Amino acid sequence: MKQKEILLFGASGQIGRNLIRKLSQKNYKITAVTRNIHRKGYILKTQANPGYLDLVEIKNFDSNNIEKLIKKSSICINLIGILFEKKKNDFNLIHSDFPALLSKLINKHKLDKFIHLSALGIENAKDSDYAISKLNGEKRIRENFKKSIILKPSIVYSIDDKFSTSFMSLLSKLPIMPLYYKGKTKFSPIHVSDLVDIIENLIEENHNGLTLECVGPEEITFKEILQKLLRAINKKRILLPLPYPVAKFSAKVLQLLPTPLLTEDQLKLLKYDNCRSNMYKCNFDIGFESKKKFENEINKYSYNWKSGGQFAINN
Ligand SMILES: NC(=O)c1ccc[n+]([C@@H]2O[C@H](COP(=O)([O-])OP(=O)(O)OC[C@H]3O[C@@H](n4cnc5c(N)ncnc54)[C@H](OP(=O)(O)O)[C@@H]3O)[C@@H](O)[C@H]2O)c1
Repeated sequence: MKQKEILLFGASGQIGRNLIRKLSQKNYKITAVTRNIHRKGYILKTQANPGYLDLVEIKNFDSNNIEKLIKKSSICINLIGILFEKKKNDFNLIHSDFPALLSKLINKHKLDKFIHLSALGIENAKDSDYAISKLNGEKRIRENFKKSIILKPSIVYSIDDKFSTSFMSLLSKLPIMPLYYKGKTKFSPIHVSDLVDIIENLIEENHNGLTLECVGPEEITFKEILQKLLRAINKKRILLPLPYPVAKFSAKVLQLLPTPLLTEDQLKLLKYDNCRSNMYKCNFDIGFESKKKFENEINKYSYNWKSGGQFAINN
């Protein structure tokens, strides 16, 4: 059987690596684009059997090289995204200008499908630069290539993530964990394998033009997430609600770290619930059920942060 070809941007991230594993098992051939083959080559190459994966290095969104790849593809998936800016205008460049360029070229070369990852809960966050840039990206993609499929996930988690694993690291070390907005912001975490299943279905079936919110089976508050993580690593910590001015000051300091633990923009975003909005369809509406529950899944890898490791006994 002839392999179907997929061009994948942002392949080395959490969702990209899981997607490569899934799609290569389903006989898709993937061309994965990275900015640095030297750094990301090993982690990418080990995700698929030889023959199912090609790696291409493209720096600085070079449009000639991107066009050459698009010309040869029938499906393109964009997973490039950032959570904080290293330089001013990075959000705009990465979440809006780059997807606009991709969708323009995809329209020019008449690809069958373009799947783009945006984010959930950004419509109301008019004070967040991250949210504004993601929304602008969605708008420009739709204008350039109407058939685009735009996915808006809540938090995506797994052993490969930068969310549950970072919080388990912090919770295992810090005696006190700050709670922003009293920990009341709601999330609907989706396991990466459920999201990857949704993407596979969207490739196989005809859902062109769809904007889809991707959520897990539960709605849980930030405080409940921390409590579940604490139970999973068998630790007791003080969860301390921070008044907004103190939270803002802490974000000002924390964003100075080379990889910021919290930025002022993230603090603004944390104010808004990250659950289905009913403005768009969600995965449950079209029969793509995400079944994996947060606490069950984190318990499968939380032993990495437990005293005593995998065989520790919970008190
Ligand atoms: N993970 C979540 O909880 C979540 C939730 C909602 C939405 N999303 C969206 O889903 C998409 C994929 O998420 P993810 O968690 O898999 O992403 P990720 O791991 O943070 O990053 C994906 C890839 O983007 C590329 N990248 C990062 N910074 C870049 C830059 N400055 N210029 C060019 N490329 C850059 C990197 O690839 P190379 O280093 O190989 O070039 C990286 O591996 C993103 O658009 C994200 O916003 C994710």
